Formats: sequence, structure tokens, C-alpha cells
Amino acid sequence: MAIKLVTTAAELRAESARLLAEKRGSSQGLVPTMGALHTGHAALARTAVEQNDVVVASIFVNPLQFGEAADLERYPRTLDADMALLDAEGVDLVFAPSVDEVYPGGEPLVRVTSGPLGEKWEGASRPGHFDGALTVVAKLLHYGLPGGPAADGGAAAYRAYFGQKDAQQLALVKRMVADLSFPVDIVAVSTVRNAEGLALSSRNRFLSEEEREAALALSRALRLLESHALANEPLELDTAVALVESQPLVKLDYFDVVDPRTLEPLAENCKETPFRGEGLAIIAAQVGPVRLIDNVPLSS
Ligand code: PAJ
Repeated sequence: MAIKLVTTAAELRAESARLLAEKRGSSQGLVPTMGALHTGHAALARTAVEQNDVVVASIFVNPLQFGEAADLERYPRTLDADMALLDAEGVDLVFAPSVDEVYPGGEPLVRVTSGPLGEKWEGASRPGHFDGALTVVAKLLHYGLPGGPAADGGAAAYRAYFGQKDAQQLALVKRMVADLSFPVDIVAVSTVRNAEGLALSSRNRFLSEEEREAALALSRALRLLESHALANEPLELDTAVALVESQPLVKLDYFDVVDPRTLEPLAENCKETPFRGEGLAIIAAQVGPVRLIDNVPLSS
């Protein structure tokens, strides 16, 4: 394996500096993850490798963003397989710190507050989740800064990669970076799905065969809206909602069409009059033991 594992911020910085110098590189990409990697994460890594000279992936199951202790405990940890997947994509460094390395004084007193954008949708059923996620993303973005200059002596470009799958997280990370002036470009990567349309997620492994089948209603409903939007037709959200609600194993939480940046619902008439412009259809449901989220960008 060419890939290297580091567990401290100091090692990460030193290795990044060494790699930038050795490769005469001018850019570094960071792919933050919680591990249990699948093809969706691989797409982020691949995009980062295409666009940067040095690529770091972080693997850290962040206690701050979990509600129940049980969910944190059962979160899958598969470091060897994760390293192999990242190595195959050409990632240079894996940063897998301990909880003590990231939070040496215990839980941080000062945190990033996600504000109203973090309180709706996912935030409404997972209080504190986005504050915890943004706090660790802020730290990871600092750890992942290029450790040295570009080959020409100037500042190395710095990019970080996030999946469209977690649309609210993506919107919040973009706002944090803009609002707090972080020196990094955020790059969004399209959602990767299995052959049947189910968005890949580390938690899908907890679905039974029957539940997995039922879960397909989410992506089917999203595709229905997507086709209406593409055809400039009314979105017929009610029909799509009914499609999901016809599945007894799926407990729908929310399903709406929103502005991709503010996540505010689009005006009601966008659903009854021909769709024009940009939107994002977002959905969340409980299927057996798993909370599933999915979304599809809409444009006409
Ligand atoms: P995690 O759930 O491991 O996801 C890491 C990244 O992979 C996120 O940016 C997520 O949107 C992306 N991703 C997950 N499934 C995907 C799919 N099917 N297609 C495309 N991208 C996908 O999100 C987190 O970790 C954490 O909240 C983190 C940002 C690491 C902070 O702890």
C-alpha cells in the first residue's frame, strides 16, 4: 500500500509538507469521513485525486454529532477495508485521530453554532447534530490545511469534498466557510446510488432485505419529481408523497421542495404550476432501524 496512516495533527502537517515538496505539488484536497466507506465516499476521493496533487482523507467517528450513545456505539468501524478503498483511489494520507487527539480537554466549550439553517429538517429531529458536525468539520478543515507552500513558493490551493447526499450538511458547511472566512474551496460531489436507485449510506447495512426493498420508494418518488421538473410540468408533490406513504415499512418524516441554499420551502405554486428554475427535493424517513435521507436537485 502506498497510502500512509497518521493519527496526530502534527504528523499530518509534517506528512503534507513532505508530500507537497516531494511531488512539487500546488494543491491539497481533504475528504472528511466517519469511515465505513462505500462507493459514495470513493467518488469523493476520486474527485479529490483528480483535482489535487496531495489528497488527505480523514476518518473520525465524531461523538459530538451523535444523539444517542447507542447509535455512536454501533457505528461501523472498518479501518483496514477503508484504507484499502482509499489506497485504490490514489489517496496519499489517512488521518484517523483518536477522540483524545481531537478533543484533548473533553467536550469543547466553544463550538460552531449552525443557526436557523441547522434547526430545520434533519436538525429538527436531531437536536445539536449540526452544531456537532460543523464543530468537527471546522477542526478537520484546520488540520487538513496544506502543511507547506506550493512548489512555486506561493500558497498551495486547498479544497474539501462533501457529498450532495447530505444536502443540509453541505449547505451548512458552505455557509460556515463563507460566514467565517475559512481559506478553503468546498466542492460538492453528486450522490452515488446502487443499481436500484438507493442512495449509498454506511447505515444501509442495518436494513433487512424487505426494508431495503421498501426504501426504494424514496428514490422513486424523487425521480418522479425530477422528471416533472425536467419537463416543466407541475411537480405533483402530493402524488410523490402518496407513493412513499403506500409503503407500510416506510415512516415518512418530511418530503418537500426547497431552495438549495436556504432550504426554505419553495412557494406553494411551484408545486401546482409548471416548475421553473432551481430547487432541491428533500426527503427523510425511518425504515426499520435506520433513518434514511435522500434528495435530488431539480432544474428546468
Ligand atoms: P460520512 O457520513 O462518513 O460521509 C462523509 C462524506 O461522504 C460526506 O460528505 C457525505 O455527504 C459523503 N457521502 C456519503 N454517502 C454518499 C453517497 N451515497 N454519495 C456521495 N457522497 C456521499 O458526513 C459525515 O461523514 C460527517 O458528518 C463528517 C462530514 C465527516 C463530519 O463528521
